[in-house]
Amino acid sequence: MNRLSIVAANWKMNGSLALVNSMVSELNNVTLNENVEVVVCPSFPYLAAFSLASDNVNLSKAFSLGAQNLNEFANGAFTGEVSTSMLQEVGASYVIVGHSERRSIYNESSVLVAHKVKAALSAGLKPILCIGESEDERVAEQTEVVLAAQLQPVIDEIGIENFKNVVIAYEPVWAIGTGKTASPEMAQATHQFIREFIAKVDENVAVKLPLLYGGSVNATNCEELFAQADIDGGLIGGASLKAEEFKIICSAA
Ligand code: G3P
Repeated sequence: MNRLSIVAANWKMNGSLALVNSMVSELNNVTLNENVEVVVCPSFPYLAAFSLASDNVNLSKAFSLGAQNLNEFANGAFTGEVSTSMLQEVGASYVIVGHSERRSIYNESSVLVAHKVKAALSAGLKPILCIGESEDERVAEQTEVVLAAQLQPVIDEIGIENFKNVVIAYEPVWAIGTGKTASPEMAQATHQFIREFIAKVDENVAVKLPLLYGGSVNATNCEELFAQADIDGGLIGGASLKAEEFKIICSAA
């Protein structure tokens, strides 16, 4: 199946204008396999800087921009929040939704995540829907129950046909920022479960759905992870802040 492969950078609350400018130049000469898309998701203030820097560099190799969160409402009295139209105005075409840090630190429920996915789709943004289990849930063999509970509210909210514009990122919480990457076998088995869960509702949507792995991906483990049948790229945290390492990861997809 010739699915789109995506390598997305989640800068989280890191980076600088200097890194934005250097990353634009570095990404302009990365070697990509066919059908690979690179997406950079900096903190909101840097999105405009990326667009400006990209305009100033004659980009031979386009990459996409994404946000790390959005508000589910179009506008209003939501101090500190950012709307889909604001994201689009500064060049975002993707948006990370339901990252485990949003779920755990900011108490985002799977229902709220579903509303955010719907808002992103309604605005023409491509949501990167994050799902993943905690270490306790993995040890208790509850992973599939947890992932199903995170996916079902989104299926109910947007309808399976709209998953054609969704990207799913499986990020085991215990692998995020820890250096404890899921083994290729474990990641593949979980991705296969996710694809089969979607396929039960619509086989055609499932077979085309990009499934990214996230959680301590680096230049050393990316090739074996991306070689797995149901892993279509990665959502990269720490390693995406280092241009050379991020370029290696992009080239491995
Ligand atoms: O969203 C990607 C992020 O959660 C993974 O972080 O540092 O483990 O690659 P990291």
